[in-house]
Amino acid sequence: MIKFLNDGIAKKYKGKTCVLRVDLNVDPKSDEGMFRLRSVLPTIKLLRKNKVRVVLVSHKGRPALTNKKQPITESKKREEQKILSLKPFTKILENEIGEQVSFLPVLDFQKANDALESAKQNIFLLENIRFCVGEEKNDEKLAKHIAELGDIYVNDAFAVSHRAHASVSAITKFLPHFGGLQLEKEINNLKGVMAKSESPFLIILGGAKTSDKLPLIERFWKKADMFLVAGGPGNTMLAAQGIPMGDSIYDPKLVMEVKKYAFKPNVFTQSDAIGAGTKILDIGPETAEEYSELIRSSKTIIWNGPVGLFEKKQYSNGTKAIWSAVLENKKATIIVGGGETIASAKLVSNFKAKLSKRKNIFLSTGGGAMLEYLSGKKLPGMDALNA
Ligand code: 3PG
Repeated sequence: MIKFLNDGIAKKYKGKTCVLRVDLNVDPKSDEGMFRLRSVLPTIKLLRKNKVRVVLVSHKGRPALTNKKQPITESKKREEQKILSLKPFTKILENEIGEQVSFLPVLDFQKANDALESAKQNIFLLENIRFCVGEEKNDEKLAKHIAELGDIYVNDAFAVSHRAHASVSAITKFLPHFGGLQLEKEINNLKGVMAKSESPFLIILGGAKTSDKLPLIERFWKKADMFLVAGGPGNTMLAAQGIPMGDSIYDPKLVMEVKKYAFKPNVFTQSDAIGAGTKILDIGPETAEEYSELIRSSKTIIWNGPVGLFEKKQYSNGTKAIWSAVLENKKATIIVGGGETIASAKLVSNFKAKLSKRKNIFLSTGGGAMLEYLSGKKLPGMDALNA
């Protein structure tokens, strides 16, 4: 069983240092980015309240510079190091936490240790851990180096817990380890919906990729009452129904596989669409109305993936309609996740104020992690906390 951080545990480590894995794989200028960043503040504040020093560890992007098979040029490497550096988060974190944050720019762990020992500050942010070759290989040597920066390890990065990486998984071999407050919230909410889902139970799947959404249909096939599909997964279903997809995004390799679902009466695909040429880019008004009605009358809802290319105003009406219907439903247990889906909340005016009145809606910080968890897969980061 995962032990979660609490006041008592934090008290025990007063004056010690916590290596806190967070997920800053975001654009700090976006609402979605700040949503993910702010989700870890309660854990940081709990640690600081108990006078525990904090070393924040995160990744950003998928740097090519650690890929030995396809080495990149020195200038490309410098460019990548600049774009994917975590340094810009230092000031943002300082403002959010209200305490000085010291950036540890080099991934030379001896130097980082020396800096920790001599610094007066209590919160540190380590440079992008994926700049180290061993991170994505779950390398134990690297995990040991990271572990040497602290006395306990806390994982509050649900969004990356589906990766068997050194700072997520192997590190638990070297330090007493706990789940953070956000991780606890994620697990409680997602477990809750899996264990007890009231009917009508509705799953909305959009976004571009079909392959990561399909396991959710499989897993919830007997449990959920309805599936509303759009975007890539919706187009793949339409293709399985024999409708030509033109230039639309869909997965031709999965057409045969989704055929068993595509004609079922509880799988809803779009009846009208908005697009350009032969490319479907949003659900049409008729579909938006049909989907909204089903959302308003459901008791359990899981939503992952916008239903159109919402970044472009002319293709954002479908996703906006889904959000409106979700926010109108005050009774259902609702889980919304995926970076794009959360980002699309900006389509709703006064979203924050509206959401604050809805205790029945949980926004997950996980994209792929949420889908894998709900699909019943074991997440390496959470497994490691169990050990
Ligand atoms: C995410 O943003 O979904 C997580 O940070 C995981 O990122 P990754 O897919 O690059 O591992």
